[in-house]
Amino acid sequence: MRRVTRKVHIKTYGCQMNVYDSQRMADVLKPLGYAPSAAPEDCDLVILNTCHIREKAAEKVYSELGRLKKLKAGKDGMMIAVAGCVAQAEGEEIVRRAPEVDIVVGPQAYHRLPQMIAEIHRGAGRALDTDFPALDKFDALPDESGQQGVARFLTVQEGCDKFCTFCVVPYTRGAEYSRPAAAILAEARRMAGSGAREITLLGQNVNAYRGEGPDGRDWGLGRLIRALAEIDGVWRIRYTTSHPNDVDDALVAAHGDVPALMPFLHLPVQSGSDRILAAMNRKHDSDAYRRIVDRLRAARPDLALSSDFIVGFPGESDADFAATMALVREVSFAQAFSFKYSRRPGTPGAAMPKQIAEPLKDARLAELNAELMRQQIAFNASLVGRTLPALFDRPGRHPGQIAGRSPFLQAVHAEGAASLIGRLAEVTILRASQNSLSGRLARIAAEAA
Ligand code: 5AD
Ligand code: SF4
Repeated sequence: MRRVTRKVHIKTYGCQMNVYDSQRMADVLKPLGYAPSAAPEDCDLVILNTCHIREKAAEKVYSELGRLKKLKAGKDGMMIAVAGCVAQAEGEEIVRRAPEVDIVVGPQAYHRLPQMIAEIHRGAGRALDTDFPALDKFDALPDESGQQGVARFLTVQEGCDKFCTFCVVPYTRGAEYSRPAAAILAEARRMAGSGAREITLLGQNVNAYRGEGPDGRDWGLGRLIRALAEIDGVWRIRYTTSHPNDVDDALVAAHGDVPALMPFLHLPVQSGSDRILAAMNRKHDSDAYRRIVDRLRAARPDLALSSDFIVGFPGESDADFAATMALVREVSFAQAFSFKYSRRPGTPGAAMPKQIAEPLKDARLAELNAELMRQQIAFNASLVGRTLPALFDRPGRHPGQIAGRSPFLQAVHAEGAASLIGRLAEVTILRASQNSLSGRLARIAAEAA
């Protein structure tokens, strides 16, 4: 029997977890004959894998749906699916507001996509599935095969039980769930076997990881990282995103003595004000964050930090914002993300009094960004003259150039042969800008030669 060839276009919004999920959706659809395509107009199925973390993210989805509606009108049999967190949070609303949408599928249900598509072909009408069977999902998915390349993502944990008062994640992604370590190790071995050299472990609250170990005991993230570091071909490990309260001693120790664990950590603090941290339900104060950073830096002195900040959370005074600026100056970040508080329907923050006016949020964001940018430029500049191992994973912008990542996650550009892609090489850094480093190849590391 010949398989029908169909085309699917998946557009991904938001975080790296969505990037990973989009790949897994492609894996699920492959046996049905769907080949990925970059051009939605040629496709039989278009999936928007959406993000609900801030207002603009959801609005972008509705305007994209407007464009797709016109495409669909001109193409017989085209299906449109909305997946991800907007699907989870606004499933019914999407069905009502966007009649062009055939399928609405939440992040915990996309292994059921083939069934949903079959039902539509059978004429059963539009399909909505926003259940939370996290336990089924990974078992039901075929082995991943979509990801290629030197640096890849691997989801180890999903969901969040923290309920920060600004955040939709506990509602859209559900309760914390950790995959068993054996399944993760098997996936990492397959990845390494097909050329992955750097693996970023993903989870909404990844360092809350507590999965069943092959020895029958509960493993935390530190233990899991040690086991992953023993896999042949896995040279670099990263993880994201973490909550400060879930940094335990085993994880700190791993930063000290697992060389494959890269010296760069994204550890969101959100605010430097204890009053705002309490209102955010972060469950720690700013000194606790400082102490965690001290412990991590004691274990790994060259650790570079990244963070997330929210300005203009309800009730944030000038003094609260000043406390954030003070924390930023004290800790010093290699890189960071900053956001204006965005009222998310259904979260406690949305109903809080003393919402902050937009112009004040804008002013605070500009002040914070200026300091964060200054720190990022200073951090990058501090590496000029040093020789660092870079993992090359792609051709550079110009012929004869290759590009990769430093241990601290900056992009590194150098003149070099394409045969170096997939290898580690020492680079002497000659120039630094806000976003990248460039340098000269010093030597190719022994383990990769
Ligand atoms: N408004 C602004 N920023 C938010 N984030 C999460 N929810 C909101 C919101 N309602 C930010 C946090 C989080 C990052 C992923 O997005 O800083 O760490
Ligand atoms: Fe959202 Fe992170 Fe807080 Fe969980 S820990 S509620 S994902 S901000």
